[in-house]
Amino acid sequence: MQVWEYTAKDGRSITVREAKVGDAKHLHAGFKNVVEEHMWLPTFTPNSHVSDWMNWIERTRHTREALIVAYIENEYAGHLSLQPEEWHASQHVAKLGIIVRKDCRSIGIGRSLMLSGESAALSKDYTKIILSTFDDNEAARNLYDSLGYRIVGIRRKHFNMPKGFIDEVLMEKELVDE
Ligand SMILES: CC(C)(COP(=O)(O)OP(=O)(O)OC[C@H]1O[C@@H](n2cnc3c(N)ncnc32)[C@H](O)[C@@H]1OP(=O)(O)O)[C@@H](O)C(=O)NCCC(=O)NCCS
Repeated sequence: MQVWEYTAKDGRSITVREAKVGDAKHLHAGFKNVVEEHMWLPTFTPNSHVSDWMNWIERTRHTREALIVAYIENEYAGHLSLQPEEWHASQHVAKLGIIVRKDCRSIGIGRSLMLSGESAALSKDYTKIILSTFDDNEAARNLYDSLGYRIVGIRRKHFNMPKGFIDEVLMEKELVDE
């Protein structure tokens, strides 16, 4: 089991590790809470159940999917997912998703998850990460930009959210030179 240790901006310790089945309830609740903010994800209702998260975590043991979870002093703080692209010829490409609990944001959890995610991606033989975010998600855009993700396209008015039409910003990063 891979484990990564970091220090938050407020001095607390952050532990990031591969998710275990026992984390499912936290991942489920964390996702549900972010969906219910109706701000950052293009999903309106969290249809998944804890059992779906248990199955997903289980799958990461024998597939190239990955789920990693961050704890700040033993409290769930957020998680990150990696999923392979569908195409045979794009199996080196992982799609990344990330959420951080609302009351744990802007203290370094997102950056810790992203750094660990890149390391987890390399160990699952991915050499490129793709992701997308809402145009108005300043925190996410700053985070990705600071880690070297580049914008490769913008889908205009791609999401019709409660806050109005939102552009989708597509970003990517190659993890190895050449
Ligand atoms: C986007 C998100 C993952 C960032 O995680 P985080 O833990 O808040 O980010 P960090 O504290 O690690 O900050 C990393 C960088 O993000 C940027 N950032 C963080 N909070 C910010 C804010 N409130 N405003 C602007 N930039 C911000 C900064 O560039 C920061 O770098 P710095 O520490 O050098 O200043 C988190 O805010 C989140 O989960 N938001 C809701 C769900 C979501 O948007 N998921 C991503 C969908 S694409």
